[in-house]
Amino acid sequence: MRLVVHDLAHRFPGTDLLFEHLDMTVDPGMTVAVCGPSGCGKSTLLSILAGWEKPYAGSVERIGIARTGWVFQNPVGVAQRSALDHVVFPLLAKGFSREEAEPQALEAMGLFDLDHAAGRRFSELSGGEAQRLMLARAVCSRPDMLLVDEPTAQLDTRTAHSVSHVLGNLANQGMIVLVATHDPDTRDACDHVVDLAHYAPNG
Ligand SMILES: Nc1ncnc2c1ncn2[C@@H]1O[C@H](COP(=O)(O)OP(=O)(O)OP(=O)(O)O)[C@@H](O)[C@H]1O
Ligand SMILES: [Mg+2]
Repeated sequence: MRLVVHDLAHRFPGTDLLFEHLDMTVDPGMTVAVCGPSGCGKSTLLSILAGWEKPYAGSVERIGIARTGWVFQNPVGVAQRSALDHVVFPLLAKGFSREEAEPQALEAMGLFDLDHAAGRRFSELSGGEAQRLMLARAVCSRPDMLLVDEPTAQLDTRTAHSVSHVLGNLANQGMIVLVATHDPDTRDACDHVVDLAHYAPNG
């Protein structure tokens, strides 16, 4: 399994280039931080890597990567449903029974320190809990590649460190992990840094 990005450039119709000449290779076991100032194209790059956005130029090869997990920058949930339901639903959709899905969901929630929140409604979660719930849900589906957008934006330093640690462990277990972040601690916890500022036109 390998992610290979070659000479990538992107612009939206009618706008300037966000970045150009971006090359990178990501193997399982590595965590990669995608950094740069607000608006530089971090989220856009993740959507290109996921295959959702077609790049303006260059190529993305997802060699052996069958399943991509994505954690959005802003948590999205169903206000009245429980936190646990949010993690269980994708597993039910994959064909697991509720009895099979719940332990898996609770295990993933435990990784992100959400044991206490399983029975809470989504609307009752704090911003950081909701963000970690989205991580637990993505991890539960055991993706080959996990793309995480600003996972620690709403977390205190200790919780952010713990999330970085979990992402590092997932990489060590064979996942490709990319994290868009402007948090220096989260960036420093990654094995490799891609600073999009270096790929800005004239950057
Ligand atoms: N669909 C779109 N059409 C046109 N412009 C877009 C579109 N999506 C994003 N942009 C613009 O592209 C630029 C990069 O957006 P992006 O969301 O990738 O930035 P970012 O680095 O993730 O920023 P932040 O740190 O604030 O999350 C922004 O100027 C944004 O307004
Ligand atoms: Mg963004």
